[in-house]
Amino acid sequence: MTKPALLFVCLGNICRSPLAEGAFRYHAEKAGLDCLIDSCGTAAYHVGAAPDPRSIAEAARRGVDIAGLQGRQLCEEDFSRFTHILAMDRSNLRNIKAAAPQGSSAAISLFLKFHPEHPSGEIEDPYYGGEDGFARTWREVDGAARGLVEELLRE
Ligand code: 4NP
Repeated sequence: MTKPALLFVCLGNICRSPLAEGAFRYHAEKAGLDCLIDSCGTAAYHVGAAPDPRSIAEAARRGVDIAGLQGRQLCEEDFSRFTHILAMDRSNLRNIKAAAPQGSSAAISLFLKFHPEHPSGEIEDPYYGGEDGFARTWREVDGAARGLVEELLRE
């Protein structure tokens, strides 16, 4: 099988997708899955910025260090570098599909599709809410990351 390359995408790349990247890396390493992992945003608002402090704190509570990540924007090369592009919500999904060059073979889907309990849901933006929103985001990305690792191991 080709080595999986996973790209987690939200709007700003400071709240949800860094948490998704951290949770997925944790589960992939635990399972011994050799893959490329990255995250980005569809927007350029936070290029070069560290994740939101609330995301860093939530990941740290789970033993995952995402403090060194840096925001970047989705680019054309991502569609050939990555085998799987995982969108946090339907708006991200639409924007990713609109940016995809013709003939792109990357599989583009909602990340929650891989969560056994919320397969048709989306991961809402916690940016404007309170701390509890980030705990919820962690639970969602953690469940989806486990499901996706299992799926890749089966393939
Ligand atoms: P994210 O959350 O897409 O999960 O990183 C957001 C962070 C910042 C903004 C929007 C969403 N913003 O408008 O600055």
